[in-house]
Amino acid sequence: MEISILEALELINQSEVVAVPTETVYGLAASLFKPAGIEKIFALKGRPANNPLIIHVADKNEILPYLLDPDPNFFKLADAFWPGPLTLVLPIIEDKVPAKARAHLTTAAFRIPNHPLAIELLKLTGPLVMPSANISGRPSATNRQHVETDFGIDFPVLDGGFCIKGLESTILYQDPTDAANPIKIIRQGALSQEDLFKVIGIHAEIILPKNNESPLCPGQLYRHYAPKAKLILTTTIPDSYKGVIVGYENRKYPLESMLYSLGDSSKPESISKNLYYVLRKLDEMHVKEALVDINIPNINLFATILERLKKASS
Ligand code: TXA
Ligand code: MG
Repeated sequence: MEISILEALELINQSEVVAVPTETVYGLAASLFKPAGIEKIFALKGRPANNPLIIHVADKNEILPYLLDPDPNFFKLADAFWPGPLTLVLPIIEDKVPAKARAHLTTAAFRIPNHPLAIELLKLTGPLVMPSANISGRPSATNRQHVETDFGIDFPVLDGGFCIKGLESTILYQDPTDAANPIKIIRQGALSQEDLFKVIGIHAEIILPKNNESPLCPGQLYRHYAPKAKLILTTTIPDSYKGVIVGYENRKYPLESMLYSLGDSSKPESISKNLYYVLRKLDEMHVKEALVDINIPNINLFATILERLKKASS
């Protein structure tokens, strides 16, 4: 159900939850300082309590009071990429940031989203926690209809149209044990490793969660981004194949197959924008199984797309 900015503000002040557009994906927003709103977010999503939330603000200065010892790298990254699809995990002063939002960690994740409606709302509300607006495990929502599919037609949504990026923010963490290269990517996202290097000359290593240790990014543990359809990732599709293919509009596929297009295979920005839309479309059309053409390079934004497809098919 579409609501106005002022209705969103009122609901948030009443410890309610509303969906808010960002440039990456839609978020489920509650005030950082309304514990009942935060509880509702975990309950609505079916999210494990040990998976912390990202704190969104309209201005960098708003987070300074929460930080324990802000590092020069923080200012460098924030100035280069905010507002934008980058989340920074930073050590915080524990009694300043509600423990439930950060799952009792000694760090918290922060981001300034690049969407005019989100910024307008954040200026009125102050800090909002915003996980992606989907039931845990499902593909994130990139338009109002996706939010309403997961949470019902009456769920309050600030409608900002389609998300431009279509993939979640990239999450960075500073490794205190690696003085030479402290900045690590703990969730790949809409900002690529190459973008980070181009803009600030930092080569941030991607840290994948290992099964036997507690992960740097708790959310990476869980099954994710998955439609109900079984996805089979492949680089070769037999000529005789008659089923559904998730592929690209500029490629030729078997005559009797049915294409769900991610866009042009040479344009990673449009593939990322379409990815969750297509994964959700498969469910809407009750597709049981699809072959996914993963004959794309494992570089820049393509690397995030491949990571999401792997998670969605596992
Ligand atoms: O693009 C995005 O980041 C979207 C939009 C709405 O801003 N939000 C989003 O939130 O993707 P969510 O909750 O779906 O994913 C947040 C991820 C989780 O994997 C969580 O484990 C991780 O951020 N995270 C949050 N706080 C953390 C912390 N202190 N340390 C490590 N990881 C953290
Ligand atoms: Mg999520």
